[in-house]
Amino acid sequence: MDIKTKDLSARQIYNILIGSILPRPIAWVSTINTSGVPNLAPFSAFTFASSNPPVLCFAPALKTRDVDGKTIVVPKDTLKNIEATHDFVVNIVSLPVAEKMNQTSGNYPPGVDEFLKAGLTAVPSNEVRAPRVGEAMVSYECRLRQIINFGSHDGAGNLVLGDVVGFHFADGVYENNHIDLEKLQPIGRLSGSSYCKVESIFDMVRPEVE
Ligand SMILES: Cc1cc2nc3c(=O)[nH]c(=O)nc-3n(C[C@H](O)[C@H](O)[C@H](O)COP(=O)(O)O)c2cc1C
Repeated sequence: MDIKTKDLSARQIYNILIGSILPRPIAWVSTINTSGVPNLAPFSAFTFASSNPPVLCFAPALKTRDVDGKTIVVPKDTLKNIEATHDFVVNIVSLPVAEKMNQTSGNYPPGVDEFLKAGLTAVPSNEVRAPRVGEAMVSYECRLRQIINFGSHDGAGNLVLGDVVGFHFADGVYENNHIDLEKLQPIGRLSGSSYCKVESIFDMVRPEVE
């Protein structure tokens, strides 16, 4: 079956993307607003874009909000905060904190501290103003490099690229230049409200080409 993009609705395209580009890692992004209130939310449109220099990227979409009986399109708090403060922390989600991660995805009004809502610890970072999640095994302190907007309508993504200026590891997760997967226990996002664990692992050695 072949389908032209123009023959699909935005909802259908969204369902195709999240149903076929998976499992997706989850960036649990902490930021701070201009009044100093922390914010925390998960984003599975996430990967690294470069390792040298280290650059992470994730994509918060614009959303609709009802204000005084009118529906308007607004940026999510994470994007607003990064635009204002130019830094953020990407925390990696491990299985034991999966429920808390989910709690932080609630559609809370601006200015609500999701660390408090989910019972998580906001630990000061070393290089950026945004705090990290104390319960996360791995955190990347990032300084904003660039934001690429894909429109001003509901659902339009905003690709946020950040230079990693500091790494944090819980004790024992990173040793001898190796991340211990059994300690990290990462989870992946599937479609809808489904997730996966990293359980069934197989190896393939890449071919040697002369
Ligand atoms: C596992 C998971 C992954 C998500 N990934 C994204 C994403 O990639 N882009 C996005 O715009 N929203 C995503 N969301 C929804 C946001 O987390 C949600 O809109 C949140 O309220 C945004 O918070 P904020 O307004 O504090 O930034 C995801 C939610 C969950 C639970």
